Amino acid sequence: MSGDWAVELHGIRKRYGRGRTAVHALRGVDLTLRPGSYTAVMGPSGSGKSTFLQCAAGLDRPTAGTVRLGGTEITGMKENKLTALRRTRIGFVFQAFNLLPSLTVEQNVVLPMRLAGHRPDRRRAAEVLHQVGLADKARRRPGQLSGGQQQRVAIARALVTRPDVVFADEPTGALDTTTATEILTLLRGAVDTHGATVVMVTHDPAAAAWADRVLFLSDGEIVDHLDREGPAGPGPDRGGLRDPGRAHADRIAARMTALAAPRTHSKAAA
Ligand SMILES: Nc1ncnc2c1ncn2[C@@H]1O[C@H](COP(=O)(O)OP(=O)(O)OP(=O)(O)O)[C@@H](O)[C@H]1O
Ligand SMILES: [Mg+2]
Repeated sequence: MSGDWAVELHGIRKRYGRGRTAVHALRGVDLTLRPGSYTAVMGPSGSGKSTFLQCAAGLDRPTAGTVRLGGTEITGMKENKLTALRRTRIGFVFQAFNLLPSLTVEQNVVLPMRLAGHRPDRRRAAEVLHQVGLADKARRRPGQLSGGQQQRVAIARALVTRPDVVFADEPTGALDTTTATEILTLLRGAVDTHGATVVMVTHDPAAAAWADRVLFLSDGEIVDHLDREGPAGPGPDRGGLRDPGRAHADRIAARMTALAAPRTHSKAAA
């Protein structure tokens, strides 16, 4: 990917509707993410996390501001060019999975390849399905899977093209701890092994602890951030005294609690 930054947002605003009923979902977001970084985004429900992700991924157009992906400005890009860029360089995991019910699991996973006009690579599909623990479900349809399994198909689909940037909206929201850990390991591996850039929305401090940096959104603004010290993940001696992942998750949870508290004073912590 060319350019110094994988993702650049400058002055991003997003307003839904007009006049008195207008919702200001994003109120000026500035952000630069370097290639090979893993960022978690947290914030109360309705704080603008999904809107932020969709604007950053070029799925939605901001009301104001500019977005660059790998040095390419996508704001104002023609729809067909933007779609082509998204299909080849971006992976997106939707909060609501967005699987096509009439296609099999395997067909859903190779869809980004077909849409990009490439021949579906079934070996690669089998590989990512194996990575998300669904090697035996390739021929099923989404309706025959549990919520957590559907979520994992959506993750396999986002990773199948080895995109430069992966945007994931609550990728572990429907998963138990063990499966969530597998998915977080997979995303972490995409960053550490393949140099992918990952941006992940989550409500779970333990999931956010896998990222290099946590951004906190409140009312459409980034009001705080927290960087990880030491290695990612829960650590080898889980539950022990020296568990950097656990301690970090506790710090993240404390920031979230502070964010949710009544806003008597302003965003001085930012
Ligand atoms: N298409 C839309 N039309 C109008 N308002 C919208 C639309 N999409 C989102 N909003 C509003 O924008 C604000 C931010 O929504 P968003 O979905 O980004 O929140 P979120 O942080 O992802 O919340 P959650 O944690 O519940 O998923 C909310 O007030 C929401 O009601
Ligand atoms: Mg959301």
